[in-house]
Amino acid sequence: MTLKLRRLSNALGAEVCDIDVSKPMSESTFGEIYNAFLRHGILLFRNQDISREQHIEFSRRFGELDDHKSLPRDRHPDYPELLLVTNRPNTDGSPSESRYTGRSWHTDLSYTTTPALGSLLKCYELPEVGGDTLFANMIMAYDTLSDGMKKLIADLHGIHLSGTRRINKQDAGEARRAEVMKLNPPIAQPVVRVHPETGRKALYLGEKVKRFDGMTEEESKPLIDYLNRHATRPECVYRHQWRRHDIVIWDNRCTMHQALGDFDETQLRHMERTTVMGTPSGYVVANA
Ligand code: SIN
Repeated sequence: MTLKLRRLSNALGAEVCDIDVSKPMSESTFGEIYNAFLRHGILLFRNQDISREQHIEFSRRFGELDDHKSLPRDRHPDYPELLLVTNRPNTDGSPSESRYTGRSWHTDLSYTTTPALGSLLKCYELPEVGGDTLFANMIMAYDTLSDGMKKLIADLHGIHLSGTRRINKQDAGEARRAEVMKLNPPIAQPVVRVHPETGRKALYLGEKVKRFDGMTEEESKPLIDYLNRHATRPECVYRHQWRRHDIVIWDNRCTMHQALGDFDETQLRHMERTTVMGTPSGYVVANA
């Protein structure tokens, strides 16, 4: 079978058309999907009205799945392979603790020593307008730096913290913040990561990084801000407008993403994500 692909933007992404991921799929068709994933950085599958089991089963074809022990409060109660990203209130009426998940630029599990290979996010409920997600092509971001800048950052390591802007705020839950920080000590990751499968170099940064290993925050900030700004220019970015039953998979080794708060938060936005485990990278930073 030859896949029917439709590019989503100049920077990255392709839609895989006319496919039902819950149907039996040959190795060769899956091989084509995997090659497209490596080539385009993100893939979109529309109209996947499939069960949780089928979402998990399709995800497993990409590799071993994470059980989300780094974010235990956000796991689906019955499926540890599924991470909830939802503003649906808890059964006791309290606000969902995952309602601000992903609101800053990041790649999944970069604050662990086995950062994610990929993530497959399925859309269940959407607000009337908005609730979009931005994706940035970090190979393009690296390739468009000057040779001087490439040399300057070649050996730097950024320290990735598990907390996000929002969970540092009181309203997202002090208990959750403390638990997530305790479970996940600061991890230094190379700023330039070599993709383990394609061999391409990609910037590996985002807003979880506050300083470089061996440097102060004050020294690091201007360069981190510059690189994040450079990577998230419109020419490097695709903005996904979700439809119900979309599944998007992204390659965390060469893209980063951000969920936008561009919607009426009284309306429901409910997503569920599987996370495919990657290869070891980075090291724990003592006394960060
Ligand atoms: C995530 O960062 O995994 C969630 C992204 C989104 O909800 O759009």
